[in-house]
Amino acid sequence: MTDKRVLVAYGTQNGGTAGIAEEIAATLEKDGVPAEARSAADVTDVTSYDAIVLGGGLYAGRWHRDARRFARRLKDPLLERPVWCFSSGPLDATATQKEVPPTRAVLRDVSRIKARGHTTFGGRLDPRPQGWLARSMAKRGMAHDWRDFEQIRAWAHTIATDLSKQ
Ligand SMILES: Cc1cc2nc3c(=O)[nH]c(=O)nc-3n(C[C@H](O)[C@H](O)[C@H](O)COP(=O)(O)O)c2cc1C
Repeated sequence: MTDKRVLVAYGTQNGGTAGIAEEIAATLEKDGVPAEARSAADVTDVTSYDAIVLGGGLYAGRWHRDARRFARRLKDPLLERPVWCFSSGPLDATATQKEVPPTRAVLRDVSRIKARGHTTFGGRLDPRPQGWLARSMAKRGMAHDWRDFEQIRAWAHTIATDLSKQ
């Protein structure tokens, strides 16, 4: 149980990363940590939060722009708070089987805000996604949900534990 309030901000194109962020927030709440998931694009001020989780869907090796811009726009208040980051991308089982390191571009964003940790979760390709490239990938049979919600909840528990120790 902690009175620390956590923002789980996400950058998404097709909603898969939003689903992960909501699961993280729900897990934190169950662990007694007040938390809410919000689109990174909608957040202009983080001063009412004590800690931040920031996640982005991966597109061509980079976070979705809403996550990248969030890290840049809010760099100063983020540096004053504990931050954890995640990426959601691989459209196969690799992120469940092993720890997938951040891409070079994500590592730059994560380092800029001195995040305490980063992890990668599997992604989801919707059968009818937004974006022509995503649609052509779906037509080639790649539409599948590779998100591992057990893994997501386990990661959220580690954040709740860290916050309770502060
Ligand atoms: C055009 C396109 C490019 C992608 N590039 C990557 C990539 O570079 N690395 C990766 O791991 N996943 C990549 N993916 C998979 C997405 O990251 C995955 O579908 C993710 O769940 C999307 O998140 P969203 O639903 O929140 O937008 C790509 C998907 C699309 C459609």
